[in-house]
Amino acid sequence: MSKLRVRDLTKVFGSHPQRGLELMRQGLSRTEILRRSGQLLAVAEVDLDIEEGELFVVMGLSGSGKSTVIRMLNRLIEPTAGTVEIDGEAIDALDAAALREVRQRKLSMVFQHFALFPHRTVGENAAYGLKVQGVGEDERRERAIEALDTVGLGDRVDAYPHELSGGMQQRVGLARGLATKADILLMDEPFSALDPLIRRDMQDLLAELQSDLNRTIVFITHDLNEAMRLGDRICVLKDGRVVQTGTGPEIIADPANQYVADFVSDVDRSRVLTAEQVMRPARRTFGADDNPREVLDWLDEQESNGVYVLDRDRRILGVARDDLVAQGMRSGAKTIKELLIQDYARAAHDTLLSDLASMAATTTVPIAVTDDEGRLYGVVPRARLLAAMSNEEVSVDA
Ligand SMILES: Nc1ncnc2c1ncn2[C@@H]1O[C@H](COP(=O)(O)OP(=O)(O)OP(=O)(O)O)[C@@H](O)[C@H]1O
Ligand SMILES: [Mg+2]
Repeated sequence: MSKLRVRDLTKVFGSHPQRGLELMRQGLSRTEILRRSGQLLAVAEVDLDIEEGELFVVMGLSGSGKSTVIRMLNRLIEPTAGTVEIDGEAIDALDAAALREVRQRKLSMVFQHFALFPHRTVGENAAYGLKVQGVGEDERRERAIEALDTVGLGDRVDAYPHELSGGMQQRVGLARGLATKADILLMDEPFSALDPLIRRDMQDLLAELQSDLNRTIVFITHDLNEAMRLGDRICVLKDGRVVQTGTGPEIIADPANQYVADFVSDVDRSRVLTAEQVMRPARRTFGADDNPREVLDWLDEQESNGVYVLDRDRRILGVARDDLVAQGMRSGAKTIKELLIQDYARAAHDTLLSDLASMAATTTVPIAVTDDEGRLYGVVPRARLLAAMSNEEVSVDA
């Protein structure tokens, strides 16, 4: 069961939302609906399945419906149509009291320009959500301190907001979300007001918290590199519709359409894509007892200067390099295993291209991608690596 399950979630802003809905169901676009009826289709038929412990990113241009989606998850905005289930329970039909209960126990929201209360201390600000939940004063303070510790502000509990930097204030906002112990954190561009260095720190902090606390996080951002760094999966919205959902590398390697391709064109591919996305199967490998003549003929034919030699379990024994094989044959070598060298680079399936690039500089054979047992899984030739880093189509021959 998904932690959050969303089906057909739709929001029409305007005086006659049902009219907008009707037109949407007839297949009209946002622009057409607006022109015909004056109704604004902000979010259209969104489906999401967000798993427990996942950090799920929602991206899209300004106006694509991100904030409206996230605010419908806790019914800060009432959906025009569709359902939201948390832990299998639909929240659509809950009365005000039950909804309040769900918001307190399960959902907590961190806004971009959330306001700290200027006349309350950092500790009181962090404890704010707890006060709303009716938690007693001592426990409030204890949990606020715990949350502030988590974000590195344990020693500023009694300070006032104006005494903190912008980044610290944002961390208080995060602590406020954490202190409630809600399972799900909804974060609407929480870091966008921060300068780049502090923003980077906050991203690291969030990633760390996420792996320790295992909250489910729905995180909105404009910033593609932020999305790639943080998101387990990313969903891209356009005109209120989901155009693609996948991991960062999946989206970059295989964008669903031109909109997504344009969106991801600026990303630093070398820090997102991994060996797995660019490798291909080795065209040929040889065994320990193969004949050097056969190996040399093949290298010759392929105009290649080296090939991997594997044991029976596909573990790498070494590389047969053309010049050394030729020389070995002249000295009477009978099997290829006598002629191997260990001059090759080995990477795991999740090695980033940026790391592969520095490896590629040092070897003449394609980089070997091996699995946990050291078995050859695929290879990354240099041409393929360079093409992938510069966003060219990778030719099958590379
Ligand atoms: N209360 C509202 N009344 C009318 N239209 C609204 C309202 N809130 C949002 N909209 C419209 O709905 C669309 C989606 O807005 P939303 O705020 O969800 O976008 P967003 O993706 O969060 O944008 P941004 O990146 O700028 O925050 C926009 O066209 C916006 O103008
Ligand atoms: Mg927004």
